[in-house]
Amino acid sequence: MIEVEGLCKRYGDQLAVEDLSLAVQPGEIYCLLGANGAGKTTTINVLLGFIPPTAGTARIGGVDVTKRPLEARRRVAYLSENVMLYGNLSVWRNLDFFAALSGNGTLDRSAAAALLQRVGLDEAVLSRRVKALSKGMRQKLGLAVCLLKDSSALIMDEPMSGLDPKATVELTAVLLALREAGKALLVSTHDVFRARRIASRVGILRAGRKVWEGNRAELESLDLEALYLRCMAEETVVANGVAGGGGV
Ligand SMILES: Nc1ncnc2c1ncn2[C@@H]1O[C@H](COP(=O)(O)OP(=O)(O)OP(=O)(O)O)[C@@H](O)[C@H]1O
Ligand SMILES: [Mg+2]
Repeated sequence: MIEVEGLCKRYGDQLAVEDLSLAVQPGEIYCLLGANGAGKTTTINVLLGFIPPTAGTARIGGVDVTKRPLEARRRVAYLSENVMLYGNLSVWRNLDFFAALSGNGTLDRSAAAALLQRVGLDEAVLSRRVKALSKGMRQKLGLAVCLLKDSSALIMDEPMSGLDPKATVELTAVLLALREAGKALLVSTHDVFRARRIASRVGILRAGRKVWEGNRAELESLDLEALYLRCMAEETVVANGVAGGGGV
């Protein structure tokens, strides 16, 4: 559903992403881990068609994002770390606007209230201006906007960043419900523990390269934090296996 093959992205002399391949199937959460500057957002930006790849391909629902960008973007919903909403407008006006933009028809207030409840926001915020909301509330509203599209593929760039523990738990529950509903989710995060808990698959990036990838069964049987720290420290690059060859 979400696929990247042999992806490279170069900025001048710097390779931000190098020969990256990954795939997220329906009903899967793929968590992308990696230090600041590892290439997570760059990968996501290529998938969303915001920037062109230097080499390789990216596809959403089988549609090449470079060759058919509009069609690819219609198939994916995106939640960024800093959600772009209209601060001067009310929550209701924002939802109404983005519902129209999503192409899934209009939204009435009761449907909007139900959507807010799904992401852990009270109906009472409908009439509040977005700029008066806290960061966590804006993030939840961004998630609500993301859900409006009802797409099969969802891409989220550090969706939990800045959320309090309760909000993080609520957001996690929404992600798991989306997974159960058969959606494909690509989520970048620095939260190793949550990734281990919710991911169907985890990929660890270092300096633009995938140095480890593991599935659910592998995640169950290892200490992901210790593995992550070793991946960051080691010079060797071992994809699809335990970095450095030993167990953790
Ligand atoms: N527009 C740009 N021009 C030049 N270099 C860029 C640009 N965008 C990103 N980079 C570089 O590409 C590399 C990967 O950055 P990216 O934002 O993808 O990392 P990230 O994994 O998302 O990091 P973080 O965890 O901090 O969000 C970094 O070295 C960054 O400096
Ligand atoms: Mg980033």
